[in-house]
Amino acid sequence: MDKLQISGGVALRGEIAISGAKNAALPLLCAALLTREPVTFTNVPHLNDIGTMLKLLAQMGVKVTREATHDAGNGMGKVPGGSSEAVQGKQGAGDTVTLDASALDNPVAPYELVKTMRAAILVLGPLVARTGEAKVSLPGGCAIGARPVDQHIKGLAAMGAEIAVEHGYVHAKASRLKGARIFTDMVTVTGTENLMMAACLAEGETVIENAAREPEVVDLATCLNAMGARVSGAGGDVIRIQGVPALHGATHRVMPDRIETGTYLCAAAATGGDVRLTGTSSAYLDALIDKLMDSGCEVAAEREAIRLKAPARLNAVSLRTAPYPAFPTDMQAQFMAINTVAEGTAVIRETIFENRFMHAVELIRLGADIKIDGNTAFVTGVARLEGANVMATDLRASASLVIAGLVAQGDTVIERIYHLDRGYEALDQKLTALGARVVRLK
Ligand code: EPZ
Repeated sequence: MDKLQISGGVALRGEIAISGAKNAALPLLCAALLTREPVTFTNVPHLNDIGTMLKLLAQMGVKVTREATHDAGNGMGKVPGGSSEAVQGKQGAGDTVTLDASALDNPVAPYELVKTMRAAILVLGPLVARTGEAKVSLPGGCAIGARPVDQHIKGLAAMGAEIAVEHGYVHAKASRLKGARIFTDMVTVTGTENLMMAACLAEGETVIENAAREPEVVDLATCLNAMGARVSGAGGDVIRIQGVPALHGATHRVMPDRIETGTYLCAAAATGGDVRLTGTSSAYLDALIDKLMDSGCEVAAEREAIRLKAPARLNAVSLRTAPYPAFPTDMQAQFMAINTVAEGTAVIRETIFENRFMHAVELIRLGADIKIDGNTAFVTGVARLEGANVMATDLRASASLVIAGLVAQGDTVIERIYHLDRGYEALDQKLTALGARVVRLK
């Protein structure tokens, strides 16, 4: 299993391009299930999770064509049922994926694929809306929390779907879904996306209240409307969808990855660096940029780029995670890492997931001073971290270990980096381009 070795102590400098967003691309690919016509996506990141989603769709009878712009070295070369790739073009241009679901004949998401990627639940709404039936494996637990999908099921039932959960699978049936008023008990990102997609082909109007306001939800709504849907209010906490009989094909560019952007900004901040990130926008990152400026960084936003210049030593900054537009839980671990070497003590409250401090014990192995009390972490900055062997437990936890490894004196070796490849495109190459000393060990 691959490991990543980082020789720390280098300030990151230079410019890299940000990739398309994993958490936008995953629901977008599922939206193609809603129409018989081809849908083309550009700026699709070259990630393991995208490969898994394409495999899932292909085994349902979707014709998948992907033109890769470069080989990210994570072996995601071939897609079943798709044409062979043309491996050329510049870094960060993203893949172009065309999905043709006209011959959708197997509305099933098997456990073998769903267990590796929870986002597979996003096929449930589109499948039952388009074909009248779906059999989707329940995702099961995850390192960061129980993560049930009861709100997805509750919403589809409100739209008239007959739902049974048997042998670990959700079976959903409906001759045609009906519009409904749905109030989700908590803000759920993929829950909102699943129900919004299903409602596009329902009879009548659906209103989703307490909806997620994440930019990825807006990106999905933009694509659905380009396919002929009638979605309004995305980005707010009340979304209205007027159902239509059918959707048509479209071409959509996946939005930039705000979490990848935030991760590299934190890496530059922690190492005392100066970086410019292109192909991204500060529009989705207000909460994070505020905190980075509070820590003493200079942040300059351009139309499609962000530059960050870090001070010699950061100030400790406290935060509380919450649904968008508040501070994203997917940046909590990375921000904990930068606070480990900041001046002072930071208080970090995690309010979204019940078990999202797994990285803290690994950061302590590198010499960090962190105390955990329930969903609150107290991080007191130390003068320096020391390299050691550490273990990645989930995607964003592994990103925080990368940041700490870049700061630490000596070598840090991160094990189980397959977690990283799920959500960061060509991370080794991008860090090397910024001057970091990283080696992937087999
Ligand atoms: C999305 O997960 C993201 N994944 C996550 O990113 C992100 O951490 C999360 O939103 C929160 O921002 C994708 O978009 C693919 P939720 P999702 O439903 O939709 C509870 C990453 O690192 N809940 O908004 O699964 C749930 O347990 C990943 O890229 C229910 O109880 O998260 C959690 O406590 C990790 N019942 C809270 O709501 C439900 O039916 C929010 O979860 C649904 C959710």
